[in-house]
Amino acid sequence: MAPADLDAAERISDAAYGDVEPSFGHRSAAGRERWLRRTGHLLATDPGGCVVAVAGDEVVGFAVSFRRETTWFLASYAVRLDLQGQGIGRQLMEAASSYGVDCPRAMLSASADPKAEQRYRAAGFTLVPQWRFAGTARVEDGSLASGTVDLDALDRQVRGSGHGPDHAILAAQFRLVTTDGGYAYLDEDGTPAVLCAHDDDTARSLLRNALATGSAPTVAHVTDANPWARAVAEEAGLVAQPSGSLAVRGMEPPAPYLHQGALL
Ligand SMILES: CC(C)(COP(=O)(O)OP(=O)(O)OC[C@H]1O[C@@H](n2cnc3c(N)ncnc32)[C@H](O)[C@@H]1OP(=O)(O)O)[C@@H](O)C(=O)NCCC(=O)NCCS
Repeated sequence: MAPADLDAAERISDAAYGDVEPSFGHRSAAGRERWLRRTGHLLATDPGGCVVAVAGDEVVGFAVSFRRETTWFLASYAVRLDLQGQGIGRQLMEAASSYGVDCPRAMLSASADPKAEQRYRAAGFTLVPQWRFAGTARVEDGSLASGTVDLDALDRQVRGSGHGPDHAILAAQFRLVTTDGGYAYLDEDGTPAVLCAHDDDTARSLLRNALATGSAPTVAHVTDANPWARAVAEEAGLVAQPSGSLAVRGMEPPAPYLHQGALL
């Protein structure tokens, strides 16, 4: 992949993801800018993990992957709608995976597309169901003592690998909230993009604060490994919908942790 391929990749991903999850609709102009900036960042840090499939001189599919310490992550992966199911995705996955071959751990957030699930199972991943909680949040206790935390050290403890250079892009796109033993990156509506904590009580407190102070928060990417998140979301009156799966290889689903879909 070259920087000049990013626009085509964004269009392919918007159409492909919109087809799998029609309720999400298409990206807004701001969402598109965020996608381009984030993906451009990963292309700059990990050019060897970012690949395109080309027909003639046209990009028809891509995979964006990156390594952080001992973990390989797949950020984004799609094939043009009319060419799916013909083996292009398999070749892209093989090329991207070879970049992570020395990483004992791997993680990605999978859509509900059975073709994607098939590709991930074939690559040795275990798929854990995810839920997204949405609705009108009602939370009384939004208090949170601010504190300091070593972000990468906590990442390592909870997720196995620090976000390293991705903290800069997360901080540029979300609001960072820190407390002793935990941190969260929050969207403008209060939705946690990443939430990482040393223990369940700290995680609960961070999530309650996000729900209490946000305008229309949702809680995404909740797996059974994080029952504290389900409990807080349900207490707040949010309703669960299935939302793809978390795919892990060589590791357990991180906890207490909520991941960002692309930067994990
Ligand atoms: C996921 C995606 C990138 C895969 O690319 P692709 O070119 O369609 O994939 P391939 O044709 O190489 O492989 C599809 C696999 O699914 C299988 N498959 C096709 N339809 C299926 C179905 N309904 N149920 C189960 N498996 C199915 C195929 O047999 C093939 O598996 P095999 O090679 O082991 O036989 C592409 O389908 C896509 O863009 N999907 C929408 C976006 C998305 O969900 N991206 C992943 C986000 S995590």
